[in-house]
Amino acid sequence: MTDADARILERLRREPVVSGARLSADLRVSRAAVWKHIEQLRARGYRIAAARARGYRLIASPDRLLPDEIGHLLVTTRFGRVIEHHETIGSTNTAALERARAGAPEGTLVVAERQTHGRGRLGRRWVSPRSVNFYGSFVLRPTLAPADAPQIALAAALAVARALAPLAPGRIAIKWPNDCLLDGRKVAGILTEMDAELDRVRAVVLGIGVNLNASARAFPAELRSLATSVRLATGARVDRVAFAAALCAALEAVYDRLLQAGFEALMAEWNTYSCLTGRNVVIECAGRRSTGTVRGLDEHGRLVLAGAAGDEHIVAGDVTLVDGYAGLATRSASR
Ligand code: BTN
Repeated sequence: MTDADARILERLRREPVVSGARLSADLRVSRAAVWKHIEQLRARGYRIAAARARGYRLIASPDRLLPDEIGHLLVTTRFGRVIEHHETIGSTNTAALERARAGAPEGTLVVAERQTHGRGRLGRRWVSPRSVNFYGSFVLRPTLAPADAPQIALAAALAVARALAPLAPGRIAIKWPNDCLLDGRKVAGILTEMDAELDRVRAVVLGIGVNLNASARAFPAELRSLATSVRLATGARVDRVAFAAALCAALEAVYDRLLQAGFEALMAEWNTYSCLTGRNVVIECAGRRSTGTVRGLDEHGRLVLAGAAGDEHIVAGDVTLVDGYAGLATRSASR
């Protein structure tokens, strides 16, 4: 987008109607040039009405996660201040790791309308249909020891829950370590990857996928009973751009708190969303299985599991509920 396109767009956002004469005078370009810029904006998907006597009116913005669109709603200082947008990409995490290695600043966001090789945790794939959901990866440069880096994914799950909560009040839960559920079905997932030395984190890539407007058909048959989207669950279409800006704000707030005060400072709120406390679970990690009842999280974000041999503090793993997923929704925070 040219500078003139951006300035015209900014005026159209601020004022209900702007005359061609005023735009031409303020931008110091001809009326014909104003018209050309309006045509360029239309080609980018902006719906702009033109009334001969009154001027131009912005009717609708494109439903795309464009830097300009997210940018004008941002209240952050770092998260989302640099945005790289792709129509189609293999995986935003792969691209963000490359940008991190090339020196991208903290908060840089690689976002895509569609991923052809969206990656999930534990080598799974992340279904990423076009222009209905949020797929984005942030470059982070945390001052944390590599051993504490998993806390970033936990904190991010809290941020995703905060961003989703207004869209489905009282129905969002977090399943440790970092799945977000809506009515007990998975609505968002987080994949963190690290560029680190043994004792120093160079960068963390925080990849987030949130099912916002996907229809049931978008999910493969085997996932339909396990996954959902906000639209499927609530019937309401989500403004993806507004969601992306809200997510950036929530992430910056929890990330800064984590770095300043440690995971302990986020624990109370995390627990209000946690759906595992008191549940009987099996946790598998690197071929090891632990069974027991979840007591909660400790101050480092480890899951405290009461098992036959006493309490175990678990750093990472894949959790299965022994009694199934019924009742998870009612355990989520009532906010
Ligand atoms: C999970 O398995 O729950 C994690 C899913 C993470 C998906 C997101 S979508 C954006 C980013 N790019 C990827 O390839 N994966 C993450």
